[in-house]
Amino acid sequence: MDLKVENGGAYKEEKLRSWGKSLPVPSVQEIVRNGNLQSIPERYMHENEESPIPVNLPDSELEIPVIDFSLLAKGDKDELKKLDFALKEWGFFHVENAGAYKEEKLGFWGKSLPVPSVQEIVRNGNLQSIPERYIQENEESPIPVNLPDSELEIPVIDFSLLAKGDKDELKKLDFALKEWGFFHMINHGIREEVLHKMKEAVSSFFELPLEEKKKYAKQENETQGYGQSFVFSEHQKLEWADMLYLITSPPENRNSKFWPLSLPGFKEAMDEYSIEMQKIVEELNANFSVLMGLDRNGLKRLQGELNQGIKMNYYPVCPRPDLVLGAKPHSDATTFTLVQQDDDVTGLEIRHKDAWIPVKPMQNSFVVNVGDATEIQSNGMYKSIEHRVMTNKEKPRKSIVTFLFPDYEQEIGPLESMINDSHRPRMYRNIKFGEYIRELFARKMEGKALLDFVKLQSK
Ligand code: OGA
Ligand code: NI
Repeated sequence: MDLKVENGGAYKEEKLRSWGKSLPVPSVQEIVRNGNLQSIPERYMHENEESPIPVNLPDSELEIPVIDFSLLAKGDKDELKKLDFALKEWGFFHVENAGAYKEEKLGFWGKSLPVPSVQEIVRNGNLQSIPERYIQENEESPIPVNLPDSELEIPVIDFSLLAKGDKDELKKLDFALKEWGFFHMINHGIREEVLHKMKEAVSSFFELPLEEKKKYAKQENETQGYGQSFVFSEHQKLEWADMLYLITSPPENRNSKFWPLSLPGFKEAMDEYSIEMQKIVEELNANFSVLMGLDRNGLKRLQGELNQGIKMNYYPVCPRPDLVLGAKPHSDATTFTLVQQDDDVTGLEIRHKDAWIPVKPMQNSFVVNVGDATEIQSNGMYKSIEHRVMTNKEKPRKSIVTFLFPDYEQEIGPLESMINDSHRPRMYRNIKFGEYIRELFARKMEGKALLDFVKLQSK
């Protein structure tokens, strides 16, 4: 028999209350908001307030110590001494580079070589011919698109309706996830100013002189930074694009050495954007959860806190767009991805019914796509669709791509609610997300081949 337990916490809460209590009080925020506060209400005035002690300390005593977690994790003795000092003398300290530690663990698994900036090649060159390294070999010739009009545009989902709990919109989302794996999301509620500032920040980063951008260059063993990902060999074909990738959330996973902090407005724009995106992410995740037969918090419980990374792409113009690719065909190793693309340049294409369908820009919308983790969790019901980016001769294109992915320690696998032994047997084995990512970096980015790594053989 199934048993549902509700309010497990409330019980403990009540036990607690019988030991001690706390009377209800007014909201101080409200007092301040409402009042022409001429004087502080009696109830808030402390009697024995220590008068401020004049600060007469050297600078070194005015900031709590900073401990570099990545050094501790490496067993650095000096950092351990600093920790000892911080614990003894302060009892408080800042932690830096908590994420870098995981990053290095990751980096240890795979690597990506430094490559030239394509933007710079285009800027400097009278590009008579495309450098060999960028000419794609097995470029599929365009497959003639022979589809009805309804199959030529990805679905449009109204976020504000989803957020209101509209059942019809939820059905539309289900269809979009099953049949397309991609959709435009409109009415997302993010202030235009936030989007605009973010676009400006990205433009101003790529406008910096190369020497300046190189200060944030991705090193061989890192995934974050300025450069190109997934470069494993000097012989490999490269993409016609530059990027800056930064982990944004949870905040302790940030690594400030890749952040152009001296670029005015950049950090503020990223911070605001990242927070706004997270709100959308929570609501989308709750909807995915319901569609996969769980309650609104079901996926969150299983995934732990989602990590957020923001990849800013710059695709320069190319005199021979037919020979190169801005991004090779790939699926995203994410839970899902949200793309803000330029309003006036088409470049992103998705594989749909054996054709490559361009995703035309739609003003004030995000392109959302299902990633591999969701394909696995949905037991293959929701597809992580292959996509690629084309370049053009006339106009560079920028995109801001927000990746959401489970914690590396989290194990993911098909949800029980998505497995049915008679009609829908389990398609994937469980895997720690970090192990999946390790595999991703251990091989070239090749379409959806990575999913085969966790696919079970059909009987
Ligand atoms: C990516 C990606 C699409 C785009 O960065 O993974 O698919 O439009 N980008 O830039
Ligand atoms: Ni992608």
